[in-house]
Amino acid sequence: KKVVLAYSGGLDTSIILKWLQTEYGCEVVTFTADLGQGEELEPAREKAVMLGIKPENIYIEDIREEFVRDFVFPMFRANALYEGLYLLGTSIARPLISKRLVEIAAETGADAVSHGATGKGNDQVRFELAAYALNPDIKVIAPWREWDLSSRTKLLDFAEKNQIPIAKDKRGEAPFSVDANLLHTSSEGKVLEDPAQEAPDYVYQRTVHPEDAPDTPEMVEITFEKGDAVAINGEAMSPATILTKLNELGGKHGVGRLDLVENRFVGMKSRGIYETPGGTVLLEAHRGIEQITLDSGAGHLKDSIMPRYAELIYNGFWYSPEREMLQALIDKSQEHVTGTVRVKLYKGSVNTVARWSDHSLYSEAHVTFEEDAGAYDQKDAQGFIQLNALRLKLLAARNRRLK
Ligand code: ARG
Ligand code: SIN
Repeated sequence: KKVVLAYSGGLDTSIILKWLQTEYGCEVVTFTADLGQGEELEPAREKAVMLGIKPENIYIEDIREEFVRDFVFPMFRANALYEGLYLLGTSIARPLISKRLVEIAAETGADAVSHGATGKGNDQVRFELAAYALNPDIKVIAPWREWDLSSRTKLLDFAEKNQIPIAKDKRGEAPFSVDANLLHTSSEGKVLEDPAQEAPDYVYQRTVHPEDAPDTPEMVEITFEKGDAVAINGEAMSPATILTKLNELGGKHGVGRLDLVENRFVGMKSRGIYETPGGTVLLEAHRGIEQITLDSGAGHLKDSIMPRYAELIYNGFWYSPEREMLQALIDKSQEHVTGTVRVKLYKGSVNTVARWSDHSLYSEAHVTFEEDAGAYDQKDAQGFIQLNALRLKLLAARNRRLK
């Protein structure tokens, strides 16, 4: 039996690796991805070797470009926010990891995949729905739902017994659970579990405190083509480079912090701290360019389906016909979302201050408060209002009659 494990190189997934070997008698293939979490990957390779993984069974890949181009950018075309606030940084990464797990399983002749998500969260659902959607016969091993290593002490004992190195700071309780990639860093659990208590400052890892951000605002120009960012300050860049650059700029100005209590798909509420500096800038800029390039009917329609689209991603249905149908609608809306936006970053805020485009629908001739040289006949508005008012008047008349 062979299993492909999503392996971070950290303590928990190292324990899982060993557990799969000893309890399941599995040959383990490890997959470690660079999604922009800002960690070296080579230590994961060394650790895998040390834990007895054959070199040909160690997969280490930089998938940042694919992540941003094929997952983050399509999602940002929708301006997706879960429950009004969450930019879905973890949710959008899971389907890609699963896709690679399933592909590597096919390449190596493995019949199962495994992940380190607990039985209480969203991530297990996302990993597994994606895996089954891509290969209906794949088996999934979710050690957290199976083993009896139910406490930190038992986990550490297991690690010790199996010669898994434990970093000094891991001896005590892990302070909280972190998931990071190019789009965001999320922190949950432990000191954050009581939503009535403010999060301590040390939780934040990639944004400065807005009060400590520079006193001078910074202007950034972002150019879009068909809804995707393609350049910053006039310089064309790859998708992952753009997001990296926006993270730098946003982080420096304290943009993109969020303290949220959200509803998990499995039913419970959970409190998380999110930092999405580049994504927050990108969302504002994307809305800025849509303001002048999207027709109102198209814009209002895509806005109305956005919450449903965001919920599908949150709940793990990236690979589903309904997500793909909504994506087709969203992508169609972006045909003319091309142009440039200037945003201002200042002490935690990001605001659009200018936008321009060859594809603009904005007509100064129509909207001007000055003489409009016949572009618009104000008298037309009278009939427009009268017909729209007709049923309101009939309602008001009835209500007066029955009073
Ligand atoms: N609550 C967020 C979500 O469901 C973040 C999950 C973080 N995952 C983790 N393994 N730390 O998308
Ligand atoms: C986990 O339970 O593994 C992390 C949190 C989540 O998936 O929602």
